[in-house]
Amino acid sequence: MKQDNIRLGVNIDHVATLRNARGTFYPDPLEAAKIVMESGADGITAHLREDRRHINDDDIKNLKTKQKLPLNLEMAVTVEMQKIAIETLPNAVCLVPEKREERTTEGGLKVKENLDNLKSFIFPLKSAGIRISLFIEPDMMQIKAAKEVGADIVELHTGHFCDLFEKSMVKEYTNYLKKLEDASKYASYLGLEVHAGHGLTVNSVKHLRELHQIRELNIGHSIISDSIFIGLGSAVKRMKKMINGDR
Ligand code: PXP
Repeated sequence: MKQDNIRLGVNIDHVATLRNARGTFYPDPLEAAKIVMESGADGITAHLREDRRHINDDDIKNLKTKQKLPLNLEMAVTVEMQKIAIETLPNAVCLVPEKREERTTEGGLKVKENLDNLKSFIFPLKSAGIRISLFIEPDMMQIKAAKEVGADIVELHTGHFCDLFEKSMVKEYTNYLKKLEDASKYASYLGLEVHAGHGLTVNSVKHLRELHQIRELNIGHSIISDSIFIGLGSAVKRMKKMINGDR
């Protein structure tokens, strides 16, 4: 049976990382978002971190008002971010755990351990019409808790799978893929939309095609890295082709 295409959300944080490395005004994440759209991506993802190490508040405003793709705002569970989200009204918010000293998002959100806090955090965001995604490990208890707190989407953390894949640990990554598959099926059974992301490359992403419940992949670092050699438009087109194969 022909499957629906998996949507590609491109995370453009690292365009801002490059800009901020020199304190210049270029390269501009908004310009990147426009190329990403012209190249067939389905959404823009950006992480407004507490320390603003890459994307900043103006970027978020521009990405919401000056380009047309749906914006998925990744953010920590803080009062400051909640206020920004309600002012900006992105299409979706993806709640992630955040530690200042980490290089990138390590691990998934502990939903089961913070049920009440998350429920009250999510309520005003949902009331403002924002879809809620929770970035979690492929763990059944966390998925069940995501449903309980009112999430619309779970984004399954693929970082561990990608580490095993990059180290060519075939047995281990195959087992982990099964874990991602079981998690996707369970989340979908509960009525949650399933997304996935973190660490994916044109090589590792092929394996996720077989997980039929996945509706969207959010990919950043490898696309922006590939764009140095082949250009952003080509990197997006190539990734889009890889995630869907002959669907
Ligand atoms: N999804 C989430 C929730 C993330 O935090 C990140 C990294 O910001 C990504 C996807 C994209 O990961 P990567 O840049 O490794 O492709």
